[in-house]
Amino acid sequence: MLREMNYILNKKKFSRSDIVNLLSVQSFEEQQQIFTKAREIRDVYVGNNIHLRGLIEFSNKCRKNCLYCGVRGGNQNVNRYQIPEEEVLDCARYALKNNYGSIVIQSGERINNDFVDTIDGIIKKIKKLSNGNLGITLSCGEQSEETYHRWYQSGAHRYLLRIESSNLDLYNNIHPQDNLHYFGNRIIALNKLRNVGYQVGSGIMIGLPNQTVEDLADDLIFLQKMDVDMVGMGPYIEHPETPLYTYISILSSKEERLRLSLLMIAVLRIMMKDINIASATALDSLHPDGRILAIRAGANVLMPNLTPVKYRENYFLYKNKPHLLEANELIEKMKIHGLLFDSQLSHQLWGDSKHYLNRRILKKMG
Ligand code: 5AD
Ligand code: SF4
Repeated sequence: MLREMNYILNKKKFSRSDIVNLLSVQSFEEQQQIFTKAREIRDVYVGNNIHLRGLIEFSNKCRKNCLYCGVRGGNQNVNRYQIPEEEVLDCARYALKNNYGSIVIQSGERINNDFVDTIDGIIKKIKKLSNGNLGITLSCGEQSEETYHRWYQSGAHRYLLRIESSNLDLYNNIHPQDNLHYFGNRIIALNKLRNVGYQVGSGIMIGLPNQTVEDLADDLIFLQKMDVDMVGMGPYIEHPETPLYTYISILSSKEERLRLSLLMIAVLRIMMKDINIASATALDSLHPDGRILAIRAGANVLMPNLTPVKYRENYFLYKNKPHLLEANELIEKMKIHGLLFDSQLSHQLWGDSKHYLNRRILKKMG
């Protein structure tokens, strides 16, 4: 089997069944072989620098009701918060002082003017306080094209919007059936973001109820077809205060979800060599070193959580979201990993997606 694996790994392009085969490997040696290949490709195409993004969970207020998410608008047990602007700016100052190249502002989805203005003001102020040096990624859900434009003009340059699952039936099974949660709109939103000029990121959840390995292979093919610049994908983790929790008895084990998540990252790295792949925070719910394992599997972006501790307990998208390793602890772990696997943290750089830069060059050449 190891020889067969070598044959697949060296192909120029994977077929759907190649991807299914790779995602199905169980033995330790074969998994390591795939991770090693993914790391080699990462190091050649995007370098062995791991980029830091400081994550700020700006607000858990959300107008949506995704059936898997702990902070869904319909969950009455959540204390809703929005971090005051000055505290967000403090997080940005912390990131700057500690040599992070970028921050990510993540929030539940809201579209009212107040929210849009507040995010806009924060982007401008972070640009100002950092002399333009801190990169800004947004993850604030579906917005109007005008809003995407406005935030881009103010200085945000990357945007994450996960498709969650590229399989329409699966997508519909994990979202309410209404206009707010329409699969087609999600695709339109990704295209709008790209047209505005952002580096566009998307991703999916791994280990959803009734999701097959073929569905996951299709997700990877989808991400490749969408030609995304960045991917953040991680395991689905059940949350008791959500409708999807009723499926708990048919979920695959935590070990299995971890295995699949790491293989998904590695196979995607081999397929989309020059994109940025983030190590998803949800991985830490499955394994104490989950996010470091993802770096070992070919990811190149690490997002230490900089959200002030008093807000964190209200941002439980999923059950047992550990009080994520303090940023410094995670960075120390990463340094040890770097010594073992010859990679290092990059400091102060934005760490833009090489794929984005490459496609801009191709566009210019016509
Ligand atoms: N398990 C894992 N990831 C989740 N997200 C939301 N709920 C869960 C969950 N229960 C992810 C979604 C969303 C991102 C902000 O968090 O993929 O896009
Ligand atoms: Fe809101 Fe995002 Fe949770 Fe959906 S996944 S309910 S959009 S916070």
